[in-house]
Amino acid sequence: MKNIKTLHKAGYAAAIILTVIGVYACLSRYVLPTSTHIWLSNILYGPEYTQKALPALASKPGIEIVHRLLGAIYLIIGLLQFSPRFRKQRPRLHKTLGKIFMVFSITAAVSGMLFAVLVPFAGFLEVFPIFTFAFFMLYATYRAYVHIRRGEVMAHREWIARSYAVGLGIATIRVMVLVINYLTAFKLDQPQVVMVSLWGGWVLTLGAVEVYNQMLHAEQQKKLRAKAVV
Ligand code: HEM
Repeated sequence: MKNIKTLHKAGYAAAIILTVIGVYACLSRYVLPTSTHIWLSNILYGPEYTQKALPALASKPGIEIVHRLLGAIYLIIGLLQFSPRFRKQRPRLHKTLGKIFMVFSITAAVSGMLFAVLVPFAGFLEVFPIFTFAFFMLYATYRAYVHIRRGEVMAHREWIARSYAVGLGIATIRVMVLVINYLTAFKLDQPQVVMVSLWGGWVLTLGAVEVYNQMLHAEQQKKLRAKAVV
């Protein structure tokens, strides 16, 4: 029990940090002066991504605004939804936000796939990680919905956590790009850095969430067995 509580706290702290990174990535283009946004992007993503990818994404303003704005709201709603205190104190709001969260996970996955097809920074190969994780996000959201309609709260929780892991993964990916680039002094091929970070960031985040899910599952089974003995 103590282990799972510590893990939950650590996971929640990580989710806060990843949310801040993700929301910054989404909104910096709209809220910061252009020169500051470009300056920071050069530092965080490197000059090649800044010069090639940002204008390419901006050439699809409709998809971009859906992806960035709804993506930022998605991340903030996610933090609230995964807070046990919030769920306990505001169950009706949890239900309403849950529906919005599910819709925004669909818009994120679909607009992400459109980006990968229309303006991929890493070329055609980018379609593989993007479609893999986008379809996984859609599937996990669908499973979470089906389980909650049947009143299966534990299974709902596990699947929505997997869906959320894909959303949070976009911030892990950005941290990976930054770490790889600074460790190698920006000497590597940038599209390859992005490809490695896409696979690595998502696998890492989903893996961490899966460890948490399995520990929660084991804890639940232990509780049920203890109840049966009594
Ligand atoms: C759900 C939360 C999400 C947020 C907050 C988010 C955020 C962003 C942001 C801010 C960008 C613009 C690049 C930048 O300025 O950093 C971007 C680009 C992109 N996103 Fe997302 N995203 C999310 C989910 C997804 C999902 C689920 C997919 C697909 C699996 C996806 C695929 C893409 C692609 C392909 C690009 C363009 C990358 C390139 O330059 O080639 N995103 N995303």
